[in-house]
Amino acid sequence: MKKRYVQVGIGGRSYMYSDAIKHKYPEYCQLAGLCDTNRHRMDIRNKRFTEGDAHFPEYKPVSPVKTYTADQFDLMLEEQKPDTVIVTCMDSAHDEYIIRAMNAGCDVICEKPLTIDSQRCQKIIDTVGRTGRNLKVTFNCRYSPVRALVKQTLMDGAVGDILSVDFFWNLNTSHGADYFRRWHRQKENSGGLLVHKATHHFDLVNWWIAAVPEEVYCIAGRQFYTPAQAERYGLKNRGKRCRNCPESKKCKFYLDIEANPDLKSLYLDAEKYDGYQRDLCVFDEEIGIEDSMNATVRYDTGVMMSYALNAFTPWEGYSISFNGTLGRLEHTCVERVYINGDGSTPGELIKKGTSVTVHPHFAEPYALPIPEARGGHGGGDDPLLADIFNPNAPKDPLKRAAGLGDGAWSILTGIAANQSIRTGLPVRPADLVHGIPEPSFRKD
Ligand SMILES: NC(=O)c1ccc[n+]([C@@H]2O[C@H](COP(=O)([O-])OP(=O)(O)OC[C@H]3O[C@@H](n4cnc5c(N)ncnc54)[C@H](O)[C@@H]3O)[C@@H](O)[C@H]2O)c1
Repeated sequence: MKKRYVQVGIGGRSYMYSDAIKHKYPEYCQLAGLCDTNRHRMDIRNKRFTEGDAHFPEYKPVSPVKTYTADQFDLMLEEQKPDTVIVTCMDSAHDEYIIRAMNAGCDVICEKPLTIDSQRCQKIIDTVGRTGRNLKVTFNCRYSPVRALVKQTLMDGAVGDILSVDFFWNLNTSHGADYFRRWHRQKENSGGLLVHKATHHFDLVNWWIAAVPEEVYCIAGRQFYTPAQAERYGLKNRGKRCRNCPESKKCKFYLDIEANPDLKSLYLDAEKYDGYQRDLCVFDEEIGIEDSMNATVRYDTGVMMSYALNAFTPWEGYSISFNGTLGRLEHTCVERVYINGDGSTPGELIKKGTSVTVHPHFAEPYALPIPEARGGHGGGDDPLLADIFNPNAPKDPLKRAAGLGDGAWSILTGIAANQSIRTGLPVRPADLVHGIPEPSFRKD
């Protein structure tokens, strides 16, 4: 029997899931309902289902899906009786839909981050415990072949027992800037980049070193996406948004959402229904998130990590080093930049500049060949979808399928970091939330 799915949050990221159900795994899955606060975004999804999409000529027209506005979410569950609810809405609403779905007897697949603060995280943990429903959190980054290579090499013991980690993530002035244009720019929507974005990074570390965070200290600030930086660029007469901004010709951060047909139909044409503006000024004084973050983390295995996230760098990607009892593994990854929802493939891995090198103690270093990676997020999106929607997917020796424990531990580093920024003190994630299950990678 086909599994029945409904999806809530029909914005830029949601395409990946609805396309997979409709076009890649229709023999196993059925999409029975779409739900969003914005009717327009659901209507254009149905138009695309019935008429096709020039970006994907291989997708043949398929039947439309019944739509429900957010206030009809419970009605959708009642009418469609789904097995699973896919949650791809704004981060701060994840908890609400996870809880309502599970109370109605459904399993849940949730986009990262699981949620944005410890109170919401606690409610989700309690709900899973009470209802016994299954929760999957979709960490596509784990599925990227180069990250699997790093995991396998560490598991094979190439550097011995890991003692410390140095991790630097760069978001560039295109992709990084984009978090300062829309809902992500306020912590009450996204938890800030330490939660919204770094949930990927902290999850990768948890999984790579098979550990969970024990203590976190963090300092952070907004240093670049500020009115002062706009002044440095000579942007004296800025508007609240890019559209009709008097400085648009001079500003390197100008985003013309009217010029890109995908951005126009997904966001500009939808504005009249909910007032969500996709092109707010990145130098706005009202922005509430940081663009530079430095954290120190101690893990329950004794590993210590230095982590820095910077959102205004000239190139996009990261470098990480694992220092072990037998040597050091250095990994650098370069990613193609994009603007979410612009119709391009997000975050493709660029082979030139991407490397994995093992430096054994007292011996010559050696580089490992970089595996091919096609598609979004370092080649991680497609294998993730297979793991979710193909019931015949093989058992994964790298244990990449993530559940409640993985989702919770990945956000708790960032949530603890946010508290540390506020208080100036180190914070223990386990003091913030109780009953956090073991992550999947530590289970047999
Ligand atoms: N794993 C990844 O690589 C990745 C990449 C991008 C986004 N994401 C995640 O996907 C989710 C969606 O992000 P996006 O980039 O598509 O954002 P988006 O702004 O394009 O879409 C969000 C959608 O949610 C809807 N929405 C907002 N509040 C809602 C509510 N209360 N009820 C129902 N619908 C609501 C909006 O109308 C919009 O259609 C976020 O959780 C984000 O963190 C993950």
